[in-house]
Amino acid sequence: MGRRRTMLGGVRVSTAAFVTVGVAIALATGSVRAQPVSAGEALFQSRCVGCHEPAVERAPSRAELAQRSPAQIVDALTRGVMTPMAQGLSPSNIETLATYLATPPQGPAASRMLFAPKTTEVMCSTHPPIVAAPGPWSGWGVDEKNTRFQRLPGLKATDVPKLKLRWAFSYAGGVYGQPTVVGDYLFITSRGGTFYALDPSSGCVRWKTENLVARTAPVVIHSGASPSGWTVFVGETARVVRAYDATTGMELWRSEALDDHPSAHITGSPTYFQGRLYVPLSSGEEGAGALPTYPCCSFRGSLVALDALTGKMQWKQHVINEPLGPIRVNARGVQLQGPAGGGIWPAPTIDAEHGLVLVGTGNSYIDAPTTGTDAIIAFDLITGEERWRNQVTQHDDYVVACNRVDRPINCSADSGPDFDFGSPPIVMRTKAGKEIVLAGQKSGIVYGLEPTTGKVLWTTRVGSGTSLGGIEWGMAADDKLLYVPNSDVLSLMDLQSRNAGKPMLSETFHQVYGTPRPGLTALDPDTGRVIWHVDAQKSPCQWYGDRSGDRIVGCFQAHSAAATVIPGVLFSGTTDGWFRAYGTQTGKVLWTFNTTAQTYNTVNGVKGQPGGSIDGMGPTVANGMVFTMAGYNGSANTGGNGTNVLLAFSVGAK
Ligand code: HEC
Repeated sequence: MGRRRTMLGGVRVSTAAFVTVGVAIALATGSVRAQPVSAGEALFQSRCVGCHEPAVERAPSRAELAQRSPAQIVDALTRGVMTPMAQGLSPSNIETLATYLATPPQGPAASRMLFAPKTTEVMCSTHPPIVAAPGPWSGWGVDEKNTRFQRLPGLKATDVPKLKLRWAFSYAGGVYGQPTVVGDYLFITSRGGTFYALDPSSGCVRWKTENLVARTAPVVIHSGASPSGWTVFVGETARVVRAYDATTGMELWRSEALDDHPSAHITGSPTYFQGRLYVPLSSGEEGAGALPTYPCCSFRGSLVALDALTGKMQWKQHVINEPLGPIRVNARGVQLQGPAGGGIWPAPTIDAEHGLVLVGTGNSYIDAPTTGTDAIIAFDLITGEERWRNQVTQHDDYVVACNRVDRPINCSADSGPDFDFGSPPIVMRTKAGKEIVLAGQKSGIVYGLEPTTGKVLWTTRVGSGTSLGGIEWGMAADDKLLYVPNSDVLSLMDLQSRNAGKPMLSETFHQVYGTPRPGLTALDPDTGRVIWHVDAQKSPCQWYGDRSGDRIVGCFQAHSAAATVIPGVLFSGTTDGWFRAYGTQTGKVLWTFNTTAQTYNTVNGVKGQPGGSIDGMGPTVANGMVFTMAGYNGSANTGGNGTNVLLAFSVGAK
């Protein structure tokens, strides 16, 4: 899936003689970049700049790359997701490139970027045992049904208008995970590579560990396997799950690599249930697939069950079962293969009543028939045996930028719209007490499914859909209604680029996606009937720094991030950096906070830390506090920030 497809104006083959695998993205400004000054920069300009500055899709920006160590970058280029991009480079070239990238740039190139400011961490003076207060938030969806319904928030609906910022924490990474909170511990990951355990009430650091690049929600459980009685699990991008003692950070185990495809990674958070972790595998092959020399594509999404005590794999199920074979030869004479795709992007969902683990799958990468893509699939919780699948969109064949004006040559003549399931299915009950599975797709369509067969009971359209949603990262459901955030952000960007005379989407996809309708909609889970709808509010952005050179000024009012609900109140952030609370009965706004209206003096010593886009992971509510991250470096192009801020709110900041 094209998760964070951003400013790809068009992909063309570089004509530079020394480029063997070249993708260069035309900059809308048409400006000529400064002459390469070093061997490292020359390599970056010839091989990488097109996808990394400005950053496209899920790609880390130049500023984000500068926060990695040379070793991490070498790793990505030699055995990780960027292996195809480094094809033909000598080890010493790779070393040079990595050293260059790990150093923050100087001069004009740096002026628009925000680099991770130097932090001075305050370590907590005590490390108390974890005492689980009522209403922990211990995994992505608060419960294994992925409702994101915090029943015991420690906060009444009438308190919400009194929420005030209590502390802010500067966090390098650009793309972040979602905080989880159990007792006096808050756990959070980021693509910057530091995994923190913080004190949720003050933001002091209980412990931290480096070299953990992840964007998943840490999963916390009570477990005899840890000396302290509590374990925290993290799915790291490099397709390994790690377990730590939750109060000390001592590593307990590390799983094997859960996939051997170099593009595979973990994006969706693992889900814990009865002694097992269910781990979704997705991939970045959709990016490599856009390279004219790349034999697109061979990755297949899968679900892995791990023993939570040992990290040993119990079973692994792929979502594409048709044999891999040659499909066609592209215009450059490269043999393409398939079927491929079906990455599992969201956290798996447990339907305990029927003994099922449910997943939503992503699009197909190549025009080869398969039933495993854009599907909801149910596996037996214990054996992993598949019970049913329902593919709602067929032939959704897409690699990065197939919907753009200047599309890559590997795209099929009839590319699909890239309508993955990016948000997990939710299991809830109808008024008659029957279970129903609710699934929201990037098409902007919500499906009500029969849990034993996967049969579609109803569908409701809440948005127009684009390759960045439609329904992107997550819906929420209390016992009464289903709350659906809708993004349609790519159409918002396309409209802006059209107004500037440079359409971003091809005419076909401009038509396919239609008129953007970002907003929040509440549905009756029994029938899919719309109970209320509010359009995304038009509000100003006050982005940090000089945005005049950006191709697109990223003030888009899109509800792309996952939403969270507590009794009476729905929390939802938008890609323009606003964070709001809405009444669950009518959608009336109860409270707002503009993360970009001020800068923050953070508890870890940064003065003037800016806010930014809210996207991806959703808010966390526990023990009377509300947490959100801001500054997501993704679809909204909020400046390629390499750093984020974790904001903690409580009633009256007390
Ligand atoms: C065709 C587009 C494209 C090109 C060209 C490209 N990248 Fe990437 N890169 C991406 C995308 C997309 C991701 C995010 C992958 C993901 O998360 O699945 C990424 C991720 C990365 C990462 C982070 C990997 C990780 O495991 O977190 C590094 C480091 C990186 N790229 C370096 C490079 C370097 C160095 C080059 C040039 C040799 C390069 N890339 C060329 C698209 C590209």
